[in-house]
Amino acid sequence: MTSAAEDSIPGQRWDPDRYARNARFVADLGAPLVDLLAPEPGEAILDLGCGDGALTEMLVARGAVVVGVDGSAEQAAVARSRGLDARQADGEALDFEAAFDAVFSNAALHWMRKADAVIEGVWRALRPGGRFVGEMGGAGNVAGITAALLAVLERRGIDGRAANPWYFPTPEDYRRRLEARGFEVRSIALIDRPTPLPAPIADWLDTFAESFLKLVPAEARGDLAAEVSEALRPTHRDAEGRWTADYVRLRFSARKPA
Ligand code: BEZ
Repeated sequence: MTSAAEDSIPGQRWDPDRYARNARFVADLGAPLVDLLAPEPGEAILDLGCGDGALTEMLVARGAVVVGVDGSAEQAAVARSRGLDARQADGEALDFEAAFDAVFSNAALHWMRKADAVIEGVWRALRPGGRFVGEMGGAGNVAGITAALLAVLERRGIDGRAANPWYFPTPEDYRRRLEARGFEVRSIALIDRPTPLPAPIADWLDTFAESFLKLVPAEARGDLAAEVSEALRPTHRDAEGRWTADYVRLRFSARKPA
């Protein structure tokens, strides 16, 4: 799932085929969030960062009337090809006014570094009494992978910190932002979720960590990814050769007062 306009994530591209190959688990793991949202037939729902529409489809199947938005025009086009109402839009500059009963977001908000601008747009998009239910990377998410990327870049004399495209807040940070805008927070918590990957970790790096990889010339990126994989082998790969990403999610449910 993606949502900030692509030019606000330097270096990161969303290739729908690559995403489908390496990131199908993102939508699969989002099903419990749909249960937390508990969509009702006929409700108007905004899926913020709808990606290729896999979860949007699930909301529609429950009878909701869903608009999906995604920062990637390519991903929004794939969602439209599933018959969904999906549009390319910048999640940091939403322009809906009291149009939805709920805003739903899975695995997208961590790509939107202007958190207060996102929350403001969600607030405006909701009708009074509307719900904002989401899950994103939380504090500590992919900490091991990020540390390995930074260390391997450092060996090449490159400081990768400024290329970090992600915002992984603590519950306290995100609660404060939601409440500052006026939301009532019903629940917010970190969930440790080590996540088995469908392919070697180099493929995850290629799909999600392009901003870091692009700090070296194209012909050197394979070596860089191989070195990061090597550094992660003892902690992220089991004896059978299966890779796991050190995911930590922040899941929340909030409400705009009626
Ligand atoms: C995540 O869903 O936790 C995630 C996605 C991309 C990069 C880093 C983390």
